Amino acid sequence: MIEVQDLHKSFGTQKVLDGVSFKIEKGETVMLVGRSGCGKSVLLKQLAGLMSPDSGNVLIAGENLCSKTERQLLIVRRRFGVLFQGAALFDSMTVEENISFLLRREGKLSAKEISDRVNEVLAVVQLPGTGHKKPSELSGGMRKRVGLARAIIYRPEIMLYDEPTTGLDPVVSDSIDKMIHRIAREFNVTSIVVTHDIRSMRRVGERIILLANGKIYADDTPENIFSSKDTMIHNFVNGVSDDKEIDF
Ligand SMILES: Nc1ncnc2c1ncn2[C@@H]1O[C@H](COP(=O)(O)OP(=O)(O)OP(=O)(O)O)[C@@H](O)[C@H]1O
Ligand SMILES: [Mg+2]
Repeated sequence: MIEVQDLHKSFGTQKVLDGVSFKIEKGETVMLVGRSGCGKSVLLKQLAGLMSPDSGNVLIAGENLCSKTERQLLIVRRRFGVLFQGAALFDSMTVEENISFLLRREGKLSAKEISDRVNEVLAVVQLPGTGHKKPSELSGGMRKRVGLARAIIYRPEIMLYDEPTTGLDPVVSDSIDKMIHRIAREFNVTSIVVTHDIRSMRRVGERIILLANGKIYADDTPENIFSSKDTMIHNFVNGVSDDKEIDF
């Protein structure tokens, strides 16, 4: 479903991606992890055709994004649902308007069909009856779930989640993780989940890709990653920094 070939991306003199390659099969759920600033969000944006690489290829169901015009990219982007880091809702719109504004703008579905779809996705994210509320009236976890509802209303084939549980309490995080599972199963979606959440890393995906120094440092099952003897991997999953201890 997704194939990344030798991606390179720099910003000025800063090399962020330095030859990244991997493949993800249809229906697979993969966690993308790595230290803050290592390029996870940059990689997600390139997968969704929202940012172009300096070199390398991104193939989505065999179609190469890097050879497409902006117009063709718009069509490919419809295959994706994206939950951005920080939900990115419009505060002036209600929940229902936030979820449905693109569908409305397209003008293909009737008001009734759109409203049915909104109710369907609000039920999936367990927020029935909140359509009339404003994002400012919701908690952080609820806002994330509205972002999720907005991402799945198009019935995407691929879901990209950028830190879906960051800043949420463990119980809400657990419910978001379960939703990611459910969306993957019910809609047979291919999912990539960027996360810093060790608990999520253990339970969400079948596979973990660890990014470090612009390259893939490890690509393995959660079991193998969590039992790895490699110092880098061990320190990452146990949250150990390589800074020297400071005497006070
Ligand atoms: N549009 C941009 N212009 C310049 N530099 C950028 C841009 N986007 C990202 N970067 C730089 O690329 C590096 C990787 O950024 P990215 O957002 O992918 O990190 P990340 O792995 O998602 O980190 P975090 O876990 O903190 O979200 C950072 O050093 C960032 O400053
Ligand atoms: Mg990020």
